Amino acid sequence: MLPVVLLSHRGPATFRRTPSGLTLKRGAGGLVTALMGLAEHLDDAVWVCAASNKTDALVAAEHEGHPVEIAFSPQMHIVDDDTPLGPTLNVRYVEVDRARHEAFYTQIANPLLWFVQHGLYGLATQPDITAETHSAYDDGYVAVNEQFAEAVAEEVDRRGGRAVVLLQDYHFYLVGASVRQRCPDVVMSHFVHIPWPGPDGWRVLPAQMRDDILRGLLGCDVVAFHTRRSARNFLTCAQEMLDLPVDFRAGTVQVGERTVAARAYPISVDVDAVEKLAASEEVAERRAALVGQYLEGDVRRLIVRVDRTDPSKNIVRGFRAFGLLLDQHPELRGHVTFLAALMPSRQDVPEYSDYLAQVGGVVAEVNARHHGEGWQPIDLRLQEDMAFAVAAYQLADVLVVNAVNDGMNLVAKEAVLANQRDGVLLLSENTGAHEELGDFALTVHPFDLQQQADAMYEALTMDRDRRRALLTAAADRVRSNDVEQWLRAQLDDLEGLDRG
Ligand code: F6P
Repeated sequence: MLPVVLLSHRGPATFRRTPSGLTLKRGAGGLVTALMGLAEHLDDAVWVCAASNKTDALVAAEHEGHPVEIAFSPQMHIVDDDTPLGPTLNVRYVEVDRARHEAFYTQIANPLLWFVQHGLYGLATQPDITAETHSAYDDGYVAVNEQFAEAVAEEVDRRGGRAVVLLQDYHFYLVGASVRQRCPDVVMSHFVHIPWPGPDGWRVLPAQMRDDILRGLLGCDVVAFHTRRSARNFLTCAQEMLDLPVDFRAGTVQVGERTVAARAYPISVDVDAVEKLAASEEVAERRAALVGQYLEGDVRRLIVRVDRTDPSKNIVRGFRAFGLLLDQHPELRGHVTFLAALMPSRQDVPEYSDYLAQVGGVVAEVNARHHGEGWQPIDLRLQEDMAFAVAAYQLADVLVVNAVNDGMNLVAKEAVLANQRDGVLLLSENTGAHEELGDFALTVHPFDLQQQADAMYEALTMDRDRRRALLTAAADRVRSNDVEQWLRAQLDDLEGLDRG
């Protein structure tokens, strides 16, 4: 197996300076969990990522920009002279100039690319592409992509010019073409973890930006997505926007001499890790508190959602649909609570802080309209507490995933694994997870409030046998495609492309 060079914006671990010295914290998010498997299976892998704070940057400088070897168990630490007990990872932290990073991350990656790809703009009034957007693109996005392409190319060179390069996500669309130029012999894939719209969606961006992005990705051998729908859209974009020959049956596009494949590899969760956490003391404590609060008194049903406060998650419409449910079924008042565990996200991007304010507004409105003696319809918890989220999954009678659009949505997968009450999954037809779990869920249309309210009612009144059958089938499906398989399938396919 060739050595692996991986690139993602967030790294697997971040450093903190505490009074007792340097400590390490595992990076947040499903992507980090999914890719951690690399550490366990590969000897010569390096993970290139952005330094996420001053301490990361300081540690990188102390290592003169070279990778830092990190052991993950029994406690995370930098490997110095010790012989680590478990697997280790080499992590190369790249420090990005602050202003440049701001333009790259909080103007172009979020909101512009994220909103275009999730279809979140109301096009009558947004977005305004201004001179500021153009310079954020040129001096931020392009410049940062160039900086990371250089770091990746250096790591490839260090390994003799031949490596498997795994690029991740919407932060780095231009890296592929640049690495291909510098290191023609690499086997390279780019995994796009968010939805890939068709050409009309992309035409919201000026031609130069959207064509750059496509050409950047076409520097790879494989462009990977979570769904077949995104892979097809990508091929259509290459055909319509760049006029390239595309073979839809084979799932390939011809770029000069090179054939680039667009493939779907649906990501999953680490089933053992979710089940271990579900069986833990911290989850048991939180579950006991929730049972005491909601399931022993008058309120006996819980609707649950767990999300980052991202406009793509459609949180506001979900609460409005719940308000509608209570309007239309007053008998449910006092007996159903909507428990929402939401993690504030990207609050330095105005669109995200505005959205969080809207979430607060709709919760206040629904609670004021419907509250009753000792009962509050929506219990909103703004927090980052995975153990609480798992306790909520366990107790959910209904789990709401009504995203406007979502690359995959791992909440749906975690929840069906953890649930203990024959809970029903409400799943947006626009999530990647719907390709796998749609048959075992009530499908919701993200913009149809009435249909969402009706689906909540159907779930709350569904007979136990059907609920159990749906949940069991969904959990079995998740177990049959664990995250390890996701990574292994990609590496196997790329190995098959090794021309050396
Ligand atoms: O693919 C989308 C993604 O990068 C996820 O991996 C992650 O959960 C989320 O976005 C987090 O985004 P950010 O790094 O901006 O918090």
